Amino acid sequence: MTVLSPRPDLWTLDPDVVHLNHGSWGAVPRRTQEVLASLRAEAEANPMVWFRSVPERLTAARLELAAFLEADPAGFALVPNASAGITAAFATVPISSHIVTTSHVYGASRFAAERVARASGAELRVVDLPMQADDATIVALIEPQLTGACALLVDHVSAATGTILPIARLVELAHTYDVPVIVDGAHAPALIDAPTGDGADFWTGNFHKWPSAPRATAGLVVAEKWRTAAYPLITSWSEYDERLPERFDMQGTQDYAAWIAAPESLRVLADLEWSVRRPQITAMLEEGARLVAKALGTSVGEVANPAPTLRLVELPIFVADAEPFKQHLSRELQIEITLTGFEGRSFIRLSAHAYNTPECYQKLSEGLPRVLA
Ligand SMILES: Cc1ncc(COP(=O)(O)O)c(C=O)c1O
Repeated sequence: MTVLSPRPDLWTLDPDVVHLNHGSWGAVPRRTQEVLASLRAEAEANPMVWFRSVPERLTAARLELAAFLEADPAGFALVPNASAGITAAFATVPISSHIVTTSHVYGASRFAAERVARASGAELRVVDLPMQADDATIVALIEPQLTGACALLVDHVSAATGTILPIARLVELAHTYDVPVIVDGAHAPALIDAPTGDGADFWTGNFHKWPSAPRATAGLVVAEKWRTAAYPLITSWSEYDERLPERFDMQGTQDYAAWIAAPESLRVLADLEWSVRRPQITAMLEEGARLVAKALGTSVGEVANPAPTLRLVELPIFVADAEPFKQHLSRELQIEITLTGFEGRSFIRLSAHAYNTPECYQKLSEGLPRVLA
């Protein structure tokens, strides 16, 4: 099998910094940045001509993005981010009784559930899923809460632990209880193939994470039965368009360049031979995570079904306030990581992308014990 070389040259990341947190904000390759800059220059050369061209260009970009997910284009809408997708989904589903979610849920998505629960006098039930829970355990723990529920909100890939949840099984189960399912797939595009195919009522995912699209590019996939009821968060000129994707396209005066440039990043992934490269990146990350854990005298987080490019390494100390810790590492070591806390334990969440090399993890394993000493 061909071993593909890391390609930091395709990004413009500061070479003096070790970037091990693609998961939070992504990073846009040089080629996409150039397309984006040239689209913005076009817009500034003649805003009238630019805005006239936007609807057609948005359609083309949207179709490419839907095809990347293997989603039905008639049910695929552009949204700025997964948070917007979740909010739009909760604005569509009738809320009464109780909403079910899990202890893995992303904080902002949980807030969206809390907001609609508050407004409707509904309850939010949070099912505790142990970090190492496998698919059968996850399904068994969620099922008892589904009777009489009005919605189930689940992550496709949990930000807290990197766990891939068994979406197909959960959707099938929830539908036997007539419970609509909202999937927070923020991390799923490029990590899970055909991630929207499990029949969820709503699925949302970010292109600005693993596919490295320009920021504020995400998709919302809506099942057929909800397509006439789902509306974007901004009321604008397409309010009465009967087609779901077009209703979400033009959201007033905005910078549409990111959405139009996003397919360039999909072409970068294709040129990187992403499907061949991804398992190689996983192997590098697993080796790197073991190295860091060994240097710390801890272990790699025991996640049953981890996403290919995220791994947890336990810290020997509990970090109550993550931000000062991250900033300290950034200043002292020029290493960017993120932290996650789960079940009262603190972990570094390591990412891997095509620009990372084994040396990135080596440097972390050398520097971190010094900083913690
Ligand atoms: C699981 C999960 N859901 C939702 C989000 C929110 O994504 P965004 O900030 O693009 O709305 C994130 C961001 O990291 C996430 O990890």
